[in-house]
Order: sequence, then C-alpha cells, then structure tokens
Amino acid sequence: MSRLLHPWRRPAAASLALLAAFPVTAQPPASQPPLPKAAIEAEHGMVVSASSIASQVGADVLAKGGNAIDAAVATGFALAVTYPTAGNIGGGGFMVIRFPDGKATTIDFREKAPAAATPTMFTDSAGAYSSRIHHNSYRSVGVPGTVAGFDYVQKKYGKAAWATLVSPAVKLAGEGFDIPTGLAASLTGARTRLSQYPASLAAYYKAGQPYAAGEKLVLGDLAKTLTRIRDARRDGFYKGTTAQLIATDMQKHGGLITEADLAAYLPIERQPVRGTFKGYDIIAMGPPSSGGPAMIEMMNILEGFDLKAAGHNSPQYLHYLAESMRRAFRDRAIYLGDPDFTKPPIAKLTSKSYAAEQRKTIDPAKASPSSPADVKVGAESDHTTHYSVVDKDGLAVSVTYTLESGYGLGAVVDGAGFLLNNEMGDFNGKPGVTDSTGLIGTEPNIAQPGKRMLSSMTPTIVAKDGKLVAVVGSPGGRTIINTVMEVVLNLLAFDMPIQDAVNAARIHHQWLPNVLTVERGMPQTTIDALTAMGHTVRVGGQQGTAHSIAIDAKTGKRLGAADPRDRDAGARGY
Ligand code: DON
Repeated sequence: MSRLLHPWRRPAAASLALLAAFPVTAQPPASQPPLPKAAIEAEHGMVVSASSIASQVGADVLAKGGNAIDAAVATGFALAVTYPTAGNIGGGGFMVIRFPDGKATTIDFREKAPAAATPTMFTDSAGAYSSRIHHNSYRSVGVPGTVAGFDYVQKKYGKAAWATLVSPAVKLAGEGFDIPTGLAASLTGARTRLSQYPASLAAYYKAGQPYAAGEKLVLGDLAKTLTRIRDARRDGFYKGTTAQLIATDMQKHGGLITEADLAAYLPIERQPVRGTFKGYDIIAMGPPSSGGPAMIEMMNILEGFDLKAAGHNSPQYLHYLAESMRRAFRDRAIYLGDPDFTKPPIAKLTSKSYAAEQRKTIDPAKASPSSPADVKVGAESDHTTHYSVVDKDGLAVSVTYTLESGYGLGAVVDGAGFLLNNEMGDFNGKPGVTDSTGLIGTEPNIAQPGKRMLSSMTPTIVAKDGKLVAVVGSPGGRTIINTVMEVVLNLLAFDMPIQDAVNAARIHHQWLPNVLTVERGMPQTTIDALTAMGHTVRVGGQQGTAHSIAIDAKTGKRLGAADPRDRDAGARGY
C-alpha cells in the first residue's frame, strides 16, 4: 500500500513557471477536509462525477429504472449546468460502453473542424503562426459533438424517455442551484478571462462580481437551449434557434462554424481498442483519441516487469513508468490522428511483441534520452471532466468530455447560454513548423475540413473472466493517459482498494519536454534516486481527477470513488 496517498495536498515546492508549464486542474480546498478513506458502496447502481449534484441526477435515473446509458446522458446534461468548467453541450468527448454480456463499443462525439477550416487557419495575415488564433479566438471553436453523441447513444442503447433525462438539467438551469464551494472559487479565478465576453459575464457573475458559495445561480438562456434539446433531441441544438444563435455569434466574431456545419455533425460509433494486463481485459478509446493506444502500449511494456517487487511509487517503479511513458508518448506524436484521415498503426502499437521490443530498450537503472530531433510536443491545457456509471445489470459507461480549456474559449453564445469549446487548439499549429517552443507541424493532426483533432482522453473499462472490474478516466490534457494508467495499475498490479487507487500520488512523463513531473510531497529521497538515474524531476501540482467505480468481486457491490482533488465531486448510488 502506498505511503503517499495524498501528497498533492501538501504545499507545493514548485516554482510558478513550472506550474505554468504543467497546469494544475484545481487547487485542493483551503480547509482540507479529511481524505475519503473508503469508496461509497451501493447495491445496484452508481454514478461518480465532478459534481455531486450531477451524480445525484444520474443516480435518480438509475433508481427509477433507467439504464447506465440513460444515467450517463442525464449526468452529462446536468454537468453542463453545475460544472461549467468542463461539463458541456458546446464541446465533445468519448464514451466507452461495456454491456453485461461482455460486448463493448465506443461513441466518438469529438468536435470536428468546420468546412471552412484550412491547414493554415491558425496563421495571421502575415502568415505567422498565432497562438491566440489557435487557442483563444472564435477560430479555435470546433463543431460541438456532445448533444449529437448523447442523442445517438440514448436512441440506440438507452431505455428511458429522453425528456426525463434532459429535464433535471433544465430545472437546475432554470430554477437555479446553490453554488458549491469549488465552483464559486473557480468562477472567481476565471473572472478576468470570462469577462472578455459580455454574455459570459452576464451569465456567470452578479453585476460583474463573482457569486459566493451557497448563493443561487440561475442560467436562463441555458435553460431555454436545454428545453429545445429536451423537446427536439439533437435538432434542438443543431437546427433552428440554437443553430442560428451559434452561426450568428460565429459571423460576428470571425468564427467559421455555419448552420450547415452544425446540421452535418454526426457522432461515430467505433470499436474500442483492447489490451490485456495479467489476465485483465482493458477496454479503451481509440483514435481520434490517443489515450487507449498509448495506455495499452505502456501497460504491455510494464507487464514484463515485476512491479509489485519494485514496490508502489518506489524509485524503481516510477522509473519503469517514466520510461514506458517516454516511449508511448513518442509514438503518440509520430503516428496518431483522426482515423478518418490517417491510418494509425494501432494493431502494432498495442501488440505484445512491439511492447517486448520497447521493453528491451529500457535500462533498469538509467533514464533514456528523449530525442527532439523527431517531433516536438507542445503544452496542453488542463480542464476536462470524467464520469463513471454502472447500473444494476452491470452495464458500464465511462465518459470523458471537454471544452478543452477551463470554460472552453470562455465565451457563452449570446442568447443560447452555453460555453463554446476551444478544441481546435488540439490540432497542430502550422504545417511543417516544428520548433523549439514546442510547436508541432506533423501531418496526421493538421486541421482539415471535417477532421477531428487528436485527443488524450482515456475513458476506460476493466473486466476479467467476463466480469466487470472497474470504470476509470480522468481530465488533465496529456497527463490523462498516465493518470488513468496509474489508477488501473494501482488496482491490478497492487490490489489497492479503489479509493486508495484514486487518492494515490501520480507522476507524468510525455517524452518531450524531457521532464518527469511528480505530485507534491514525493519524498526527497525518491526524487534524488530518480535524479541519480538521469531523470529531470519537477514537483508539480495535482494531476487529474479520476472519478471511478470498482465492483467488489465478492459481493458485487458498486464502489464509487470520487477523486478528492475535485472539491465538488461526489459518488451517488442506490
Ligand atoms: O482532448 C484532449 O485531450 C484535450 N482537449 C483535453 C483537455 C483536458 O483534459 C483539459 N483537462 N483537464
């Protein structure tokens, strides 16, 4: 068992510059209530999300006879109200589903580039790459996928009446909800950014000033948009009033999305990527997410080491993790992009034989170099959200969705009340331009009309011998892949209870920059040992928020583990 279950709660030793390079998802509460020692137990169904209000919405759906798909949809709409940092209808994401008979599928509702997108769309009039255009302009908005994804999956696999799944969100937005402490702090921090947009300032602030925790937040325009979605499913978003409001907003601010782009958006049902680890089945998201392939590549490499003998979070274990991460993130940068535009070699990257070749290149006592000669990798923002759902029949749903940055672009659509994503920032910046600032210009992930931008989101389900074991996922940009793998390894290689597996300290390496980030409080002796092996170790803030569910192998109980790194999170079951 780890002696480092919650080092991220102690004061940071990191410099501000370092924290800027490795963004922190959210600060732990100032008062620091005790960490949850054990998961929440339920007999039948469980929902764990970043907002306990939204988890309750999902648990209520389960208790009334809805299945896990219905609950995932209701929770997702509720999060768009109560967790605006990343809960959304203006963004996109991925859903991994495992049915009680063991079959599995995934829904890709990732945003797409609009028809007017071009490879050089993030350059200014002089042809120079512009980070502002790429990440912080209306051109950074991708065609949203969330509502279409929810509509598709619920029509095909849900069983409740659609309106009953959207209504709780309509009510929360229209009648208001008491602002929880995490959201109050988050909105206070986001004020400067959101106040650039009058509709955002009007929606989320009181006469321009932040609300206090416990005050009521009413989101009238959002309630109207959700009502249109309740009444007309996807057409309530992609056609008619909502679509017109989006297109008008785009025209006004130099964005590219048209009503035709919205009407044409379709989610895609794809096969999951699969791997195994010591007899467990790993079911994860494939391209356009890099998450599943990279995680499976790492786990295949790690399967060949005696991790338990090395010891949880020992220097030796962390070295093996870091070296596996270095290799999988190199392959991610070289090979992965939208599979509808490029053909990533997934079978090879996730094979045991490829992992064996990679493992042979790892020196157990010495860090390898990361060669920047091939490709450079840039910084990524840190705001997304993951939630997990299991119902009474064992149907499991793992959802990670995002607006990209916290509150996305920061812009609420005038009259429609929801926040726009800035997901186009996940495309590479400019073709052919790969430089020392971390810009990448490699072909597989260059913007093109209708293309989906490469993601790191890693919603994951674990099973064994035909039985569900766990549902895991996390936000955190590129750190997502490593966070999810570390939680899964804590369960499978170290037999930790789910809450300990979620609480435990994490590390991150992404090949380039060649830096090993550890959560706060890692003992100096561990840092020294890793440094002696040749790693450049930096102490970062907290890494990800992995709201997870495990199934008790003996009793079948659903064990919900909210990640205490998210202040408003909660597990709710029945
Ligand atoms: O899709 C991706 O990989 C990123 N847009 C996710 C961003 C993210 O996780 C921010 N999270 N905390």
